[in-house]
Amino acid sequence: METLRLPDTEEGILAAAEIIKRGGLVGMPTETVYGLAADALNEAAVTEIFKAKGRPQDNPLIVHIANTEMLSPLIASLPEKARLCLDAFWPGPFTAVLPKSSLIPSSVCAGLDTVAVRMPSSRTARRLIELSGLPIAAPSANTSGAPSPTSAEHVLHDMDGRIDAVIMSEPCSVGVESTVVTFATEQPRLLRPGGVTLEQLRELVPDITVDPAVLEKIAPDRPVASPGMKYKHYSPKCSVTMVKGSSDEFAKFVNSRKGEQACALCFKEDEPLIEARTLLYGSGTNAGEQAAELFDALRALDDMGCTECYAHAPALDGVGLAVYNRLIRAAAFKVVIL
Ligand code: TXA
Ligand code: MG
Repeated sequence: METLRLPDTEEGILAAAEIIKRGGLVGMPTETVYGLAADALNEAAVTEIFKAKGRPQDNPLIVHIANTEMLSPLIASLPEKARLCLDAFWPGPFTAVLPKSSLIPSSVCAGLDTVAVRMPSSRTARRLIELSGLPIAAPSANTSGAPSPTSAEHVLHDMDGRIDAVIMSEPCSVGVESTVVTFATEQPRLLRPGGVTLEQLRELVPDITVDPAVLEKIAPDRPVASPGMKYKHYSPKCSVTMVKGSSDEFAKFVNSRKGEQACALCFKEDEPLIEARTLLYGSGTNAGEQAAELFDALRALDDMGCTECYAHAPALDGVGLAVYNRLIRAAAFKVVIL
């Protein structure tokens, strides 16, 4: 199949909406990462999403909406704490897991009785949803297991020839995926940290809990609240080790190990101290910058031909929690503490 490159204009978005309406797949920019968009109510189109990504069938999709009127047909109920969060964080990088209505095909939710819903702030994504007049199912537009795409080029790298079109927009401003919170449990629970921070959530819902899978490896036989957390994720081809310590400690550690094939994934402040090849992901004191640059750096790592990569761990506050959560998965939970 030829993958159309559509401009990020009213005309381009209209062409993308026509593709969605007839059951096709479109690479859709959002403020977090690019999504692989299809009609959420069309079972056959949803099946094509799973095929194009090579995604396991038991990993449910997020349904994207453009306005609050689109929410009620999708859900069975809206708990008060969820409503508070939606009022505060929509449109934006926030996904609520809620009891689902019968309108949603079971393949979207992988047979669960809940549905994940998000209203993106991206103008293009919202316009695409409006023009198609449909709720849009969209996982990140990467091959399953690869880092999420933060540019149209990343989407084409993984999906060229496998999907109908990509909207050729700007790189994503947030750079990590949305925050996922389930409201289907007694207390709201953070399933995946993202652009909306835990600190922001605690202000509204002080009793929110953090799923253990956010920071730790979950044993394969243990049930997980969010199926996505059990899969290999964000994996570059070379072996990554996350290293916790100060800039000086990190540099000393890397410099004592450098060989032809080693490199450092680090902050710009670290760079002058490192003797090995480096890939940068923002400043050590700016988690927003780290989030915006991390996935591009992980993709670039594949082209460097290294066998070992030492990644300087970010701080855990603010969006840093999301950056840490993605990086520790890229490192397959291998951590060195200095
Ligand atoms: O920012 C984002 O959320 C991006 C953009 C495109 O919107 N989308 C995204 O989708 O990251 P995806 O499919 O790559 O990640 C969705 C996550 C997965 O970890 C999945 O398991 C979880 O949300 N999820 C979806 N539906 C769920 C449900 N009903 N219950 C629990 N977790 C769910
Ligand atoms: Mg994904």
